[in-house]
Amino acid sequence: VERSVFEGLDRVDPLAPFRDEFDIPDDGPIYLDGNSLGRPPRSAVAAVEAGLREWAIDLVGGWRRWVHLPESVGDRIGELLGARSGQVAVCDSTTVNLYKLASGALAARPGRGVIVGSAGDFPTDRYVLQGIAAASGHRLQLVGSSPSEGVDLDDLCRHINDDTALVCLSHVDYRSGARLDLTEVTEAVHRVGAMVLWDLCHSAGAVPVALDDSGADLAVGCTYKYLNAGPGAPGFLYVRTELQRDVAHPIWGWFGQSDQFAMGREYQRTEGAAGYLTGTPGVLALMAVDAAAGVTARAGIELLWAKSRELTDLLVRLITERLVPLGARLASPADPARRGAHIAVAHRQAWPWCASLVERGQVVGDFRPPDVLRLGPAPLYTRFVDLFDAVEKMAAVLSDGLPDGDFEARVT
Ligand SMILES: Cc1ncc(COP(=O)(O)O)c(C=O)c1O
Repeated sequence: VERSVFEGLDRVDPLAPFRDEFDIPDDGPIYLDGNSLGRPPRSAVAAVEAGLREWAIDLVGGWRRWVHLPESVGDRIGELLGARSGQVAVCDSTTVNLYKLASGALAARPGRGVIVGSAGDFPTDRYVLQGIAAASGHRLQLVGSSPSEGVDLDDLCRHINDDTALVCLSHVDYRSGARLDLTEVTEAVHRVGAMVLWDLCHSAGAVPVALDDSGADLAVGCTYKYLNAGPGAPGFLYVRTELQRDVAHPIWGWFGQSDQFAMGREYQRTEGAAGYLTGTPGVLALMAVDAAAGVTARAGIELLWAKSRELTDLLVRLITERLVPLGARLASPADPARRGAHIAVAHRQAWPWCASLVERGQVVGDFRPPDVLRLGPAPLYTRFVDLFDAVEKMAAVLSDGLPDGDFEARVT
């Protein structure tokens, strides 16, 4: 494909104006790592600055407003996830939220002995489930996951039965970008009477999830990837309204307490998603989430997803034309209907390849062991022409020849 084709696509891209809401230097590297840490929208920076002024002026009185942010920002994120009000809270980290909801799900399925996860899932998900199983006496069963195609639904179905309490999976695989069908998997899990907990880290802000309509029980995710809320911004959690009575909260903190400021003697969990809060939230970070998610909401998840599919389809085409002849291999599903918003390319020297591109200030992707370079073209601010230029630079580095470094020798 010619570069002019990509320039033409940028000219008709309805989301092109959104790039101007970010400060993007003309001479910087091509950033294809928005699926690890999104860029800062100017509105999020302004929101944090305004928050700092509020703190200075209002001091402790500011809490009258700030105390409601985990819920109100939760509703805003909920809109992007197809969730009605009162089911999403923004709080803690994805890891902590996963722990809270997985523990709560087990309490809602007494007498069942097995937790099912994916062997290929992001480490924190596996570790949290291992820890819960070790403490509670449940057995953790990890379903196999193909490095490029992810978890197979039929295989999952063979691993679940009336002893399964909880199935915990990522909607979009962090490495390959393989995407599961939220509704199909949820239905399969419900057929055996278990609960499903989704990790939406690689979906939120780029891939539609329609949480309510899919029938999903529980979900968690982060706001610092496609939602652009900044490093260490809080995660979110979703608990379907009908389940909130039965899904217990393992951490009894005062922010989950009804009538919090009455300082009552006994813990009584408050209604709605706020019942899954723990302690004092990071207010400045919540302000950034609110503003950044607002940019995504204005762009609209349907347009973002349409552009994302175009970007990833073209990226796969460029990889096939330019990089496969140089020894690279697609490590994402070949079927576009099974892909999320990022693409993985495998190469024997993926580590020095990725590191050279960063060192030369050309392309920022990220390396995932043992041999994958991951490219996440965030649809909100990535131009089509960026893909063409990035793949040209990637091809040039491969053609120049790479040192035989393996990733064990990496510096970071
Ligand atoms: C699938 C998935 N889950 C969880 C996390 C991280 O969780 P936390 O925000 O708690 O560090 C990531 C981070 O990249 C991820 O990709």
